[in-house]
Amino acid sequence: MIVYLDGEYLPRAEARVSVEDRGFLFGDGVYEVIRACDGGLFTAREHLDRLQEGMRGLEIEAGDAASPDTLLEIAATLLERNDRTEGNATVYVQVTRGAATRTHCFPPGGCRPTVYLSTARFAHPPGLHKKGAGVITLPDLRWARCNLKTVNLLPNVIAKQRAVEANATEALLVRDGVVTEGASTNVFAVVDGELITYPACHYILDGITRRVVLGMAREMGIPARETPIRMEELFRVDELFLTGTTTDVMPVVRIDEKPVADGQPGAITLRLQAGLNERISAAGGVRA
Ligand SMILES: Cc1ncc(COP(=O)(O)O)c(C=O)c1O
Repeated sequence: MIVYLDGEYLPRAEARVSVEDRGFLFGDGVYEVIRACDGGLFTAREHLDRLQEGMRGLEIEAGDAASPDTLLEIAATLLERNDRTEGNATVYVQVTRGAATRTHCFPPGGCRPTVYLSTARFAHPPGLHKKGAGVITLPDLRWARCNLKTVNLLPNVIAKQRAVEANATEALLVRDGVVTEGASTNVFAVVDGELITYPACHYILDGITRRVVLGMAREMGIPARETPIRMEELFRVDELFLTGTTTDVMPVVRIDEKPVADGQPGAITLRLQAGLNERISAAGGVRA
């Protein structure tokens, strides 16, 4: 496995990051996960633009070393060098503020950001997209800048662990009595034929898949509204699903052990799932 670290392609076992890296010490960095299909990257520009926004949000200046064009080139090279130009894969991109003597404030002398990319083969857990997943609900304990995709993921990690322990696929996070999003996904409900999802703001990550799904809904003539799903509505929705780069459109059929509607994936969910699958496949072999 070949990875990219700060200007070099090298075997993963030889890649070394300083113990003073602020990603390691403070979670001071941003990341992206991009989907690849047959060597083509799906919505790569959108992911890399969001990475830029994240860097701006954290005031990390990486210049050309982490520009979208540079990262696209590295991603394509990694897919080729790791023989991932057929089938499904993911590309992981991470930029941290870099290594410097530990101070909470930004290093006074500045430091060079650490840029890391890797790629991995990718397959969905068998069956789950057809039969639907179970979720649990948990309080949303995160900070108020969830729009930034930082590597500081502790509340998400703990929420996902609680889900795994409950034999569920995802934890829906609840803030002020409404569902914001999942630990690593966005959440959509269907109520009376209308799609509902939490508005893009600082309390959620505006998922790239979320944006694609909202765009598809417009094209398919499915009405959509960006508005919170209240907890008391959650158990009465007609359909529920999750979206994400490695989740696609995942039907949710159980919340806290109670069935969603008749306990089967909903018709609108399955239409959107098929539409997204087609789009990802269409990225196959296309250089971004
Ligand atoms: C908290 C959170 N929300 C939503 C998403 C989905 O975003 P995307 O569709 O861009 O993968 C993710 C993806 O990792 C996430 O971590």
